[in-house]
Amino acid sequence: MTTPHAPHLLLVGLMGAGKSTVGAACARRLGRRFVDVDDLVEDDAGMSVAEIFEQFGEEDFRRRERGALHSACSLAEPLVVAPGGGAVLDPVNRETLGAAGVVVWLRAPVSVLAQRVEGSGSRPLLADGALPTLTRLEEERDAAYADVATCTVSSGDLSVAETVDAVLDAFERAVSGPSGRAGR
Ligand code: S3P
Repeated sequence: MTTPHAPHLLLVGLMGAGKSTVGAACARRLGRRFVDVDDLVEDDAGMSVAEIFEQFGEEDFRRRERGALHSACSLAEPLVVAPGGGAVLDPVNRETLGAAGVVVWLRAPVSVLAQRVEGSGSRPLLADGALPTLTRLEEERDAAYADVATCTVSSGDLSVAETVDAVLDAFERAVSGPSGRAGR
């Protein structure tokens, strides 16, 4: 972590991991602003993520996502930031995340994730079915999450409130630990 200001808390993980719900609750507890990177992309584009995928394709979405993530992470105000689940695939994004603060990887079994996202309708990558797609994405992405994460919280058996507590514990430990990875 190279940031000169208080570290951001950054939540990564697959779709359905709870990044937005848990992130917003963590932000309230920390007295910080919560930034959902998908929301930044949508506000900037004036259209939904699904519309961007449909009209311009995934590559264009990833370019917008990279810019939005970089803008959020560059703010001096300490934030809680939730990038979309695929942001970690880009090595530039992993660099941005690692330099910006404490990265918490929210994990849950794909069967749990699939139940959470089923029928959400707003995620273009899940159009072919949540469970098979999330199973494939887990295989493709786990190494990238592991690479960027300061610490991991497994939320499969936890309520939202318990997950928030676990994330904040991990964050505090990483920030205050003498040799925690937050010092990298
Ligand atoms: C994506 C995850 C979505 C969104 C887009 C692509 C992904 O965000 O960025 O649909 O590649 O995993 P959430 O993880 O917040 O659902």
